[in-house]
Amino acid sequence: MSSPKKAPDSSGIGVTARSVIALVSILVVAFAVKLGIDNRAATQCRSIPGDEAWPTREDWRLLNQTVDGKLVATIPIAAVCHHSASTDDIGEHSTFDQEACDALRSEWFWPKTHLASASSAMAYQFTNDSCNPFLDPDAPCGLGYLPAYTVNATTPADLQAAVNFAQRHNIRLVIRNTGHDYLGKSTGAHSLAVWTLHMKDMSLIPEYQHPGSSYQGPAIKLGAGVEGLEAYTFANSHGLMVVGGNCPNVGITGGFTQGGGISILSSKFGLAADQVLSWEVVTAAGELVTADPTENADLFWALRGGGGGTFGIVVSMTVKAFPDTFFSSAHLTLPNDGTNTDAIYSAISTFFQSLPSLVDAGAWVVWVAAPFGFMVMPAMAAGLHPSELDALFQPTLSKMDDLGLAYTYASTENPDFLSAYRAIPGFFNASDYHAGGRLIPRSLVADEASTASLVAAVRAIGAQAFAVGVAVNVSRSVSAPGEVAANPYFRRALMNLSVGVPVNYTDWAANRRAQDRITNELLPRVRAITPGGAAYLNEADFQEPDWRGAFYGEHYARLVEVKRRWDGGELFWARTAVGSERWEERGDGRLCRT
Ligand SMILES: Cc1cc2nc3c(=O)[nH]c(=O)nc-3n(C[C@H](O)[C@H](O)[C@H](O)COP(=O)(O)OP(=O)(O)OC[C@H]3O[C@@H](n4cnc5c(N)ncnc54)[C@H](O)[C@@H]3O)c2cc1C
Ligand SMILES: *[C@@H]1O[C@H](CO)[C@@H](O)[C@H](O)[C@H]1NC(C)=O
Ligand SMILES: *[C@@H]1O[C@H](CO)[C@@H](O)[C@H](O)[C@H]1NC(C)=O
Ligand SMILES: *[C@@H]1O[C@H](CO)[C@@H](O)[C@H](O)[C@H]1NC(C)=O
Ligand SMILES: *[C@@H]1O[C@H](CO)[C@@H](O)[C@H](O)[C@H]1NC(C)=O
Ligand SMILES: *[C@@H]1O[C@H](CO)[C@@H](O)[C@H](O)[C@H]1NC(C)=O
Ligand SMILES: *[C@@H]1O[C@H](CO)[C@@H](O)[C@H](O)[C@H]1NC(C)=O
Ligand SMILES: *[C@@H]1O[C@H](CO)[C@@H](O)[C@H](O)[C@H]1NC(C)=O
Repeated sequence: MSSPKKAPDSSGIGVTARSVIALVSILVVAFAVKLGIDNRAATQCRSIPGDEAWPTREDWRLLNQTVDGKLVATIPIAAVCHHSASTDDIGEHSTFDQEACDALRSEWFWPKTHLASASSAMAYQFTNDSCNPFLDPDAPCGLGYLPAYTVNATTPADLQAAVNFAQRHNIRLVIRNTGHDYLGKSTGAHSLAVWTLHMKDMSLIPEYQHPGSSYQGPAIKLGAGVEGLEAYTFANSHGLMVVGGNCPNVGITGGFTQGGGISILSSKFGLAADQVLSWEVVTAAGELVTADPTENADLFWALRGGGGGTFGIVVSMTVKAFPDTFFSSAHLTLPNDGTNTDAIYSAISTFFQSLPSLVDAGAWVVWVAAPFGFMVMPAMAAGLHPSELDALFQPTLSKMDDLGLAYTYASTENPDFLSAYRAIPGFFNASDYHAGGRLIPRSLVADEASTASLVAAVRAIGAQAFAVGVAVNVSRSVSAPGEVAANPYFRRALMNLSVGVPVNYTDWAANRRAQDRITNELLPRVRAITPGGAAYLNEADFQEPDWRGAFYGEHYARLVEVKRRWDGGELFWARTAVGSERWEERGDGRLCRT
């Protein structure tokens, strides 16, 4: 047989096979369309109010009944500062209340103001300036990017009801905990939100044991809504401590740990994501599952640093807890008097080069460089006495002395984590800064030349904005970077460098310009010295051009696989979350496939 003869044969078979496949798919599609289950066609865009497919009043009433009356229709908290507010379903209504408005204005920058609300977003730009408390009462007040409705959940069943409702009606679902997220991941226009903040259960497991885990020791199970300080207080009452964030009100179980989580204790124990022993999760299919090293191990992995709002709704997590210990803290203030800028940055150079020895000794070091000067506020280290911490600061102190700089430095000791934590003089205001960030690798302070490039970048930023760094060594507690989903680059990082520019509440366009300045002027200075580098997904610029590479690194493809397995229909969507490039949020807030 000659090959030319074979070709028509096999091609004939191919044609037949192709027509059969084509016919079968036409039938399948026709059948699916008939049943109304052609997901691709039906979910090209999520429904929004005004669409025929948007749930009716009766649908919402039934959902409210299913969740025992826990459904809240959004009225923006700043409606009291406006003559009228228009919301998705309630329509126009009169809202102005001068006294309440004054009170709101005076408390606007406190997280608690927004925590009391089922919908308020702390990252101001993700409100679309839709109901601004600082504008004239005549200015319009609408929902903007806030959810239309929120389930104030207290049980997994509430979360399941919301998931099933959103799936059934093809509407956008948002997972919202404290609403701290800088990247707008916990709010969304025309959505149903599940609010996890009131899921506050905490329990102690004195001796955790699991066949899939080498860890044996105390553990604490934390509900989805537990805030940092609540977890610290509970742990303290059992002589323990847990790895949480530095703002008392940032949730511990939500975006923080699921996004990696850098903690005061990170140089001792690693990232928050490294501590997780088990999760309970409500999936996109509405099922309640456990994810641990032996059960649903892929989900267990992805939730440990692959980002919040992506793979499922976490109901609780069980984390390692550690015996409490004493702490030392140090503070340094170096004011800029207008003539000493060169000397300040020379001292900062020495300080940067001392950071590896500080973090390797277990310290967490926060510093700020801004037009007012330089501060360390604070450095904290578990199990170190002040004299030991002072010794680690000595190179910086000597350098400042040599340069004739006027500074203040003080260190103290506290008997346990909670008292050391409470002594942090920080202010934890929210809704006041636009942010962006980059992880700084340890290699950048390894020699004079690269340190000089880092100092130059920080100086350029510090001259016009806030440059804030949080230094840690998170390499201790994992045996291999692939063990958890958090970007492997974390293990090479010396610090998280953040850039902050204040929000302007009376000039919305200025905020857009401020964020663009972060994206196009300030961060490129840091990107230039960290090519192929990374950014911490919870503290980054939401306009980061290479967010997949920068936030997830070499784990991105694997995370997409896990996303596909657990949420093939892409119910969970959040800006810069894994798989989010497959959808876009249009100008009117509608979410559509790209
Ligand atoms: C003042 C301030 C201080 C901060 N300090 C630190 C710090 O010290 N260290 C640090 O690492 N980070 C810090 N952050 C960043 C913080 O980690 C992120 O903002 C984080 O996303 C907050 O998580 P949340 O659950 O409290 O907030 P939210 O804004 O409610 O949620 C954040 C993300 O997590 C998702 N999510 C929330 N709950 C769940 C859940 N149960 N299941 C699935 N997804 C969920 C949301 O959908 C969203 O994508 C700070 C932020 C602020 C504003
Ligand atoms: C849900 O029911 C509760 C209790 O009946 C009610 O107070 C609340 O307003 C309802 N929510 C909505 C959105 O109608
Ligand atoms: C923090 O917010 C409060 C309440 O809005 C405000 O009074 C205070 O000035 C703010 N502090 C800082 C440091 O921004
Ligand atoms: C949410 O529910 C909690 C109880 O779980 C309640 O204390 C709180 O007031 C509710 N908040 C809103 C805004 O409905
Ligand atoms: C956001 O604001 C712009 C400009 O006012 C408006 O065109 C757009 O519809 C708004 N989007 C939402 C979701 O409110
Ligand atoms: C990164 O820096 C920002 C401050 O600018 C801070 O709020 C945040 O806690 C830091 N992130 C971590 C993970 O420590
Ligand atoms: C972190 O500290 C450990 C223990 O001191 C050390 O072995 C490691 O080299 C440090 N690594 C990084 C990247 O910080
Ligand atoms: C905000 O913008 C207005 C108008 O451009 C300007 O007058 C004001 O100074 C700005 N405020 C701040 C705090 O930058």
